[in-house]
Amino acid sequence: MVSVVVVAVFLLLGALYQSPQTSAFKIFSSEGSLTHQQITEEAFLRKMAQVCLKTATSRGQNVTLLINSKLTASIVERACSNAYSTLLKIPTFTAVIVQATLSNAAVDRKQFSTAHHFDEEDFKNGRDLITQGMTAVKVSVKQGNYLAARTSLGTVCHTLQDFYSHSNWVELGSTDPYSTLIKPELPLSNLAGPNTKTCKSCVGDDCTDNILPEIIQQKLLTSGYFSLITPKKPAGKCSHGGFFDRTSYTEPTGGINKDDIASSHGFLHQRAANMAINATMEMLEDIRLAVGDLAFLRLMGLTQTSVLAIVFDSTGSLSAYIAEAKTMLFSFIDSIIGTSEEPSEYMLVLFSDLDAGSLIKTSNAETFKEQINSLSLLVNSNPGMCLSALLLALTRVPPSSDIFVYTDGPAKDSQLKSSVEAMIQSTKSKVNFLLTNPTLSRASSSKALSQSDIQLYRDLAHISGGQTIEVTLSTVSQAITLIGDEITSGQVTILQVNRNASQTESFSFVLDSTLSNVIVYITGDSPVFTLYSPTGVSQSSSVAAGPLGSILTVNSLMRLKLNSNNLTGEWKITVNSPNSYTLKVIGQSSMNVLVYFVEIFQGGHGDSWGQSYTRPFTGRNATLFVSVTGGDSVTVTDVLLVEASGSAVVNGTIKAVGTTDFLVNIDTIPEWAFVVQLRGLLNKSSTISRFQRQSPIQLKGSKITVVAQSQNVTQPGVPLNISFTVAANATGGNYIIRARTNQGFSVSVSSSLLVAAGGSAQGNITLITPSDTESGTDVTLTIEAEAPGSTDLNYATLRLTVSTASAVFSGHYSLSICLSVFCFFISYVIGL
Ligand SMILES: *[C@@H]1O[C@H](CO)[C@@H](O)[C@H](O)[C@H]1NC(C)=O
Ligand SMILES: *[C@@H]1O[C@H](CO)[C@@H](O)[C@H](O)[C@H]1NC(C)=O
Ligand SMILES: *[C@@H]1O[C@H](CO)[C@@H](O)[C@H](O)[C@H]1NC(C)=O
Ligand SMILES: *[C@@H]1O[C@H](CO)[C@@H](O)[C@H](O)[C@H]1NC(C)=O
Ligand SMILES: *[C@@H]1O[C@H](CO)[C@@H](O)[C@H](O)[C@H]1NC(C)=O
Ligand SMILES: *[C@@H]1O[C@H](CO)[C@@H](O)[C@H](O)[C@H]1NC(C)=O
Ligand SMILES: *[C@@H]1O[C@H](CO)[C@@H](O)[C@H](O)[C@H]1NC(C)=O
Ligand SMILES: *[C@@H]1O[C@H](CO)[C@@H](O)[C@H](O)[C@H]1NC(C)=O
Ligand SMILES: *[C@@H]1O[C@H](CO)[C@@H](O)[C@H](O)[C@H]1NC(C)=O
Ligand SMILES: *[C@@H]1O[C@H](CO)[C@@H](O)[C@H](O)[C@H]1NC(C)=O
Ligand SMILES: *[C@@H]1O[C@H](CO)[C@@H](O)[C@H](O)[C@H]1NC(C)=O
Repeated sequence: MVSVVVVAVFLLLGALYQSPQTSAFKIFSSEGSLTHQQITEEAFLRKMAQVCLKTATSRGQNVTLLINSKLTASIVERACSNAYSTLLKIPTFTAVIVQATLSNAAVDRKQFSTAHHFDEEDFKNGRDLITQGMTAVKVSVKQGNYLAARTSLGTVCHTLQDFYSHSNWVELGSTDPYSTLIKPELPLSNLAGPNTKTCKSCVGDDCTDNILPEIIQQKLLTSGYFSLITPKKPAGKCSHGGFFDRTSYTEPTGGINKDDIASSHGFLHQRAANMAINATMEMLEDIRLAVGDLAFLRLMGLTQTSVLAIVFDSTGSLSAYIAEAKTMLFSFIDSIIGTSEEPSEYMLVLFSDLDAGSLIKTSNAETFKEQINSLSLLVNSNPGMCLSALLLALTRVPPSSDIFVYTDGPAKDSQLKSSVEAMIQSTKSKVNFLLTNPTLSRASSSKALSQSDIQLYRDLAHISGGQTIEVTLSTVSQAITLIGDEITSGQVTILQVNRNASQTESFSFVLDSTLSNVIVYITGDSPVFTLYSPTGVSQSSSVAAGPLGSILTVNSLMRLKLNSNNLTGEWKITVNSPNSYTLKVIGQSSMNVLVYFVEIFQGGHGDSWGQSYTRPFTGRNATLFVSVTGGDSVTVTDVLLVEASGSAVVNGTIKAVGTTDFLVNIDTIPEWAFVVQLRGLLNKSSTISRFQRQSPIQLKGSKITVVAQSQNVTQPGVPLNISFTVAANATGGNYIIRARTNQGFSVSVSSSLLVAAGGSAQGNITLITPSDTESGTDVTLTIEAEAPGSTDLNYATLRLTVSTASAVFSGHYSLSICLSVFCFFISYVIGL
């Protein structure tokens, strides 16, 4: 019955579409078949196992490891840690696979061409997509942008893997992947011509022998046609096949796809999927050879990929400032050199009262230290362009980087606060402030930090999940400990709240058995707290070393590091503070959550979901994609939006889309800023216990929408005009418009746009990519609109690839939809 309902709805909606087309290896799992995610994961695991095994052997180690389907991330991580000494304590291998497969799934969303799925014998365009995508991966790796590289890699994997399901490569008896697909220099030979007949009708449901014998004998390559709408296809051509494919009812009937074991050629699904795994491994090997082993390990999430950026106030009002800064930064850098926490790249952004920042990049720690050493102080007591420089850093470092701002004065450009906040949310980077001598009385200087100046820094740090650390010469070593906490790998957030009020409040949080190095931070002016363990043992803030842990106090920050025994269970903390304070509980764990807002695509544009690059609309519904990485067996029971500075909660409706992935529907995005909190059950060695995690970044909705014209390619040296629309369900007026790219390319846009109350307006941007930009470079363009009086702000983010190649596609488009996602979506909507 259920399937009948699905089919009926499917056909009903299908009739509204242009010509939805084709499926692929499934995105969501079905019994006995391999999905794109499983194929990608297998390939990543086997390739990494091979690389680490080879390295270990070449270093004379005796490691035995069978490269088969029984590999798991932890087995591979162990083999790799034998081979390399600077591996992360907690590798992010599974998170990397999620990042790659998120964009893999998105291929079915927005790319409507036959080329993306190797349908209708569109081999040339399909191959071009693969080779251009591989170039983009290599260029992004070279530029240190690993997240962009993984996104491109996921997209390429999808197309490459579809070849083995949709073409007759497997039927031709091939025993190796078709290497020509990843080698642009090789000719595509033996393609069946446009008029060559390739199939005969199946015998009833039996399609085992439907490819013409002469095609097999001559080893001609072909692939299937598909349409939901029209039965038409060129004479004698094979179809994709399946119930929904109307071309498969036209002579020659039936089809050849191997998407799962129930497909027309389902008896070859396993072979096709295994071939796709081997092909993906072959592509990974090509990338490894091009970028080198170290960069490859970083791409795979086995060693640190984050960039460490220091935003430095090059003017100081006291001469001791520069000496203190150097001592501080040198000790810090020395403490991470050669460790697994050493960043893949360093960046220095200098600012002063007149200069919004100049930027220096290096991957060498010693070079970086030399640059810091050569800094000379401009004694100057004017406030600096701190937030402009921070914005520059946020824009130019890859997403999820660590940024430290070192200053002794207030920000002259505090009007950029909302803009900085938005960039923190869109890049998920963490910002920490190192404030030097902030409490020293400097009444005569306009550079003295007031309480509200410090609050601005605290707010921004808190929103990003970072910390504000006050440094003096006498507390450098304590400060280094605090900075060290911030860059620890495998860090997860358990709880994070901020409060303005001066009342006593209790908070509870659950610690699970995967956690270690749990630290509780309280910042504020003289807060008092008591912590209670699950077994009822307590310790108050006045006890520096007690039964539960030891407290380190650095000015207005208290750090309580829990003793490592008896962590599991529900803890409670009671805080009493005369002023505003923040509370944060973090730990180290192999189990973390990734949270993204996604767009569900319905209507004429597809039926899948992909990451959303804008704030959700306040008052409307939204969908979150939540993935639990590195968990054993987990059940997610609650996904909540929790008010950042209060206790209001919005409860989400959870729908599992895999064993560790979930889509969560939020009925109404609240007016207040929020964090995403996740609670669930963990089944570890058959013991069930509770766990909780929280997004480190504070998020918010907006009543403004910014929608940019769809674009994905830009040519070096050629100005690209992009129009965008700003609409607001709020007050009208002049909206401030800002635009920037992660590459620092020139963007011109008028600085404001008049939007009527409840109306919309169109703006135009011209992006100029320098003519010497390498083809394959990934460009992120952010367009921002801020309401009059800074009451609201939203942004749109576009990802473009710089390409010297002129448009790959020459007509031949048809709407393509992954059936499995489509069915999934329909069943999601009608709640089956
Ligand atoms: C390698 O280790 C295995 C068992 O771990 C052992 O049986 C074998 O003899 C060792 N080989 C060498 C060359 O040491
Ligand atoms: C994939 O590669 C492995 C190892 O080279 C090989 O044993 C296996 O037969 C290949 N599978 C397919 C389907 O080609
Ligand atoms: C707390 O203070 C901040 C500004 O410091 C303000 O934006 C926020 O609304 C206040 N929250 C509450 C719950 O009062
Ligand atoms: C740890 O657990 C043991 C026994 O389960 C208990 O006796 C002890 O008090 C606990 N310690 C703390 C600090 O909770
Ligand atoms: C979300 O809201 C839109 C209208 O704004 C509605 O069409 C859609 O069905 C809603 N989705 C869910 C899952 O409630
Ligand atoms: C959220 O909703 C679920 C299902 O309705 C419910 O079981 C759970 O208790 C709710 N959680 C909270 C914190 O309200
Ligand atoms: C927990 O996991 C074990 C084995 O991994 C399984 O046998 C057991 O049924 C699971 N328990 C629950 C409640 O899911
Ligand atoms: C780029 O965008 C165009 C439409 O703007 C689309 O037809 C094309 O498929 C896209 N190309 C890729 C590689 O996504
Ligand atoms: C792009 O915009 C600029 C300035 O608005 C205009 O001069 C130019 O003609 C536009 N180019 C194209 C190709 O539309
Ligand atoms: C605009 O906001 C009002 C109230 O804030 C709400 O009732 C209305 O539905 C909103 N309009 C849209 C299009 O979201
Ligand atoms: C943007 O361009 C469109 C069409 O080229 C034009 O109608 C519109 O006025 C422009 N908007 C602005 C703010 O210049």
